Amino acid sequence: MPFTVQLAPLHGVTNRHFRAAWFAHFGGFDSAMAPFILAVPGSSVRKTHFKDVIPQPELPIPLVPQILGNEGASFADSARVLRDAGYGEVNWNLGCPYPMVAKKYRGSGLLPHPDRIDRFLDTVFRAGDVPAVSVKIRLGRADVEEWRSFMPVLNRYPLASVTIHGRVGTQMYRGSVHLAEYAEAAASCAHPVIGNGDVFDLPSFRATQTAFPNASGWMLGRGALYDPYLPSRIRAYLDRGLDGALSRVDFPKPGSVAWLAGIAPFHDDVFNRYRSVLFGPAHVLDKMKEIWTYLSYWLPDGKRYMARLARVRGLEEYSMCVDELLRR
Ligand SMILES: Cc1cc2nc3c(=O)[nH]c(=O)nc-3n(C[C@H](O)[C@H](O)[C@H](O)COP(=O)(O)O)c2cc1C
Repeated sequence: MPFTVQLAPLHGVTNRHFRAAWFAHFGGFDSAMAPFILAVPGSSVRKTHFKDVIPQPELPIPLVPQILGNEGASFADSARVLRDAGYGEVNWNLGCPYPMVAKKYRGSGLLPHPDRIDRFLDTVFRAGDVPAVSVKIRLGRADVEEWRSFMPVLNRYPLASVTIHGRVGTQMYRGSVHLAEYAEAAASCAHPVIGNGDVFDLPSFRATQTAFPNASGWMLGRGALYDPYLPSRIRAYLDRGLDGALSRVDFPKPGSVAWLAGIAPFHDDVFNRYRSVLFGPAHVLDKMKEIWTYLSYWLPDGKRYMARLARVRGLEEYSMCVDELLRR
């Protein structure tokens, strides 16, 4: 099976408008996972609930919707709606770290409860008419050994794949990925494993290839937002080796003037999309500033630039501030 690279779901960031703009300007991904929608029972399903995952024929790659929930029946109901919309796979979010979510036994809050996970999956697969189901997990909620109890449960069901983020829920995105436990958890998983976490450049991607030689793919989140050329760099590396990736002059150095010039059309596209769909400049500014928290990562003076953007109030001022940077 070829090694796949998938865009991670980032709730509030990689929504349908962002995805449409991103995939119009950058490549390298084989598929994308949409940020979670909540599982809703069949009786309360409303079309607007699924608006982020209304099929986007303009995307050059398949999209996998993700569902957050702790009731198998509601998940199956939502999964059926998505199947009818044409999706062949849905993902179950077992990794969301936010305390508000976890304390309701959702996302990573379910990881300490293999019995609940079992009941959930039993209900989903007993229903029998859902699309392929994959799951996205962390190693545990608070304890890096929790996977030892829930992985045997996951292994009993015909899951399409298991994406593993190598932190525990209570870490949020702090500290580092637990490499040794991650490797052990991956080895004990009976399904295709997709790795995830902290790949921000080609060297860190190459390190994952050594650490997890059995991964069947990688899910890339913040790294692709820090440097939108990163998925293409990784694809070039996978297809043509290190020399092939490094010789590509069309992948400019992150943060360089050429890189900023390459970002500009994507920036303008996503800015225009938000201006046409969001109500009021404050919402547009919020969204754009959030994108810049990622795009500024590789800028030599990124912190200073973000402080300046934080003071921007109107869209005209925003455009001037961004033009100065992108069109030097
Ligand atoms: C702002 C934000 C929103 C996220 N939303 C989701 C989500 O909706 N579903 C999910 O499974 N993971 C979500 N994640 C986790 C990412 O998909 C990914 O697992 C995480 O960023 C680690 O990968 P990375 O180091 O490549 O970024 C979110 C992460 C961030 C930072």
